[in-house]
Amino acid sequence: MSNQPIGIFDSGIGGMFVLNKCASLMPNERFIYLADSAYMPYGTKHSEVIKRAAYRCADMLFAMNCKAILVACNTATENAIDGIRTLYPDKIVVGLEPAIRPALRDLQSGYIVALVTPATYSSQKFGNIVQSAPDRIVALPSERLASLVECGDDDNIEREVVSLLSPHSGASAIVLGCSHYSYIRPIIESRYGGMAIYDGGDGAAARLLYRLKENGLTAAHGARGKIDFYSTVKCI
Ligand code: DGL
Repeated sequence: MSNQPIGIFDSGIGGMFVLNKCASLMPNERFIYLADSAYMPYGTKHSEVIKRAAYRCADMLFAMNCKAILVACNTATENAIDGIRTLYPDKIVVGLEPAIRPALRDLQSGYIVALVTPATYSSQKFGNIVQSAPDRIVALPSERLASLVECGDDDNIEREVVSLLSPHSGASAIVLGCSHYSYIRPIIESRYGGMAIYDGGDGAAARLLYRLKENGLTAAHGARGKIDFYSTVKCI
């Protein structure tokens, strides 16, 4: 048992969708959510810059005595999670992966569209997943979508989603391969009703709980859940 907090970070608000799933699944836990607003967006940055930003978030959260961290960002997971695990070999570090494998498992035919950021698209980890079924996965990177979601620009969000997905209205499923994209789920549901939607957030929350149980680090039964929010700020 441990009443230490769990740290969750993303470049901005996207990881809050994952936080929400974690808080529902683990209502007795204390969470610290860190939005790395100073470095948002991650998805258009070079892998080395993403790594530095993600390591800094991990440093901050472990300095706040977190017993585990969840990287609630596909871009940071694909580019930096191995490095975080090397820096903190004794800690629990869980990532957020695009839910392509579950989609492939469920759907026997048709193809899957994975919406991702450019930095996820060009990462080796993601490339390996796509290469596992290249004729069944179409990966679509967007330069703008995460930033539009971050600032709540609903008109342009809808325009971007339509321009990305309209050529693929025959796809069997959409994988939301960026935590910010959970926000566009209602648009997909209303415009492309027949498509299944996959989001890695449930899997990440379940994996976090599994790792805490495995290490005897879940909160004491009856402990009071709590969420604290932090954000980094741009200095220039
Ligand atoms: N939310 C992040 C992800 O899951 C990326 C957003 C950004 O570009 O900063 O990939």
